[in-house]
Amino acid sequence: MLDIKVQKTTAPKQKPAADDPLKFGTIYTDHMFLMDFNSEKGWHDARIVPYGDIMLSPAAVVLHYGQEMFEGLKAYKGPDGTPLLFRPGKNIERSHMTAERLCIPPVPEDVFLTALKELIKIDADWIPDAPATSLYVRPFMFGTDAKLGVDVSDSYLFVIILSPSGPYYPEGLNPIKIWTEDQYVRSIKGGLGHTKAGANYAASMKAQQEAHANGYSQVLWLDGATHSVIEEVGSMNIFFKIGGKVITRDLDGSILPGVTRDSVIALCKDWGVPVVEGSLTIEEVYEASQNGTLEEVFGTGTAAVISPVGELRWGDKNIMIGGGEIGEFTQKLYDTLTGIQLGMLPDPHGWVMKVE
Ligand code: COI
Repeated sequence: MLDIKVQKTTAPKQKPAADDPLKFGTIYTDHMFLMDFNSEKGWHDARIVPYGDIMLSPAAVVLHYGQEMFEGLKAYKGPDGTPLLFRPGKNIERSHMTAERLCIPPVPEDVFLTALKELIKIDADWIPDAPATSLYVRPFMFGTDAKLGVDVSDSYLFVIILSPSGPYYPEGLNPIKIWTEDQYVRSIKGGLGHTKAGANYAASMKAQQEAHANGYSQVLWLDGATHSVIEEVGSMNIFFKIGGKVITRDLDGSILPGVTRDSVIALCKDWGVPVVEGSLTIEEVYEASQNGTLEEVFGTGTAAVISPVGELRWGDKNIMIGGGEIGEFTQKLYDTLTGIQLGMLPDPHGWVMKVE
C-alpha cells in the first residue's frame, strides 16, 4: 500500500463560480501529488502538498533534452456526488508504453491509481458539475538530473495536477475548422508519435500557429512518408463516416492510441456500425465529399471528448461537412459517451471507476 504524506493547504483558493466558463486548463485546484525517483530508492516519498511552483536545477535533463511524458484523464461528479474516473487503467497502461520508449521508470499501476484517487478525494469539491465540464487530471513525469551530457536521467519527478475545465475548444459542440498540413510532419513510424511525450506537442506548434493565422483551429496531420494518409489531429484522433462506415487510422506506430478512440470503436461495434481501422487518404476524403458519401467527421480525445469537424482545408480545397451542424451519429456518440462518463447511462464495459 502506498504511504502518502499529506500536507493540506492552510490557504484554500476561491473556487470558480458555477457559471465560470472554465477555459480549458487555466485554473488549478488546492493540491498536487509529487513523488521522486532515484536509482537507490526507486519511486519514493509520495506526497500531496499545496499546489505551487516546483524547484528544478537549471541543468535538469528535461529542460535541455525534453525527457518528459504526460497523461490526461478526467474526473466527473457522479449522480450521488461520488467522483468518477473514466478508464484510468488505460491511461496507466499507455503511460507504461510511453515510459519504456522514453527510458523513464514506469510508475507501478497500483501506485499510480492510488495517487490519482487520493488527490482527487482531497480536491473533490473542485469537480465542476455544469454541463460539459469536468476535472481534468494531468499526471506527468520528467528527468531531473543536473547534467548537460545527452544521457538518460537517473532521477525523476512524478507530478499530478488537477484543473476544473470546460470544453477544450471554444466552439464547444459547434463544428471546428481544421487545416490539413502537407509540409510539416508530426511523426513517423519508429519516432515518438504513438507516445504521450511532450516533444510531440512541441513538434506540432509551428503548424498549429500557421493554421491559426489562416483562421483554422487545429491541424490535420498526414503521414510523414507520403503526405497523403490521414493520421490524427494532435490534440485528438480523427474519424470519418463515409458511406455508412466509420473509418479511422490504425495504430500503425505513429498515432496516439487514444482512450476515447478505443471507446468509440467499442461503441460502434456494440451498435453494429461497421468500423474500419486502416489507411484513408485526404484525396479519398475529398472524393467522398464530391460524390456525396462523406457523412460526418469528428475528433475524439480526453480533452476534446467528441468534437464535430465542419470544414477541412486541404491546399486550395475546402471540404465542407454537415452544413455547419453536428451530425446525428456524432451527437449520439457524444451523448452516449458523456452519459456513461457521468454515471447517467449503463456502463456495459465497466469503464467507470468510483473514487472512494
Ligand atoms: C488529452 O486529451 O488529454 C490530451 O492530452 C490532449 C491535449 C490537451 C494535449
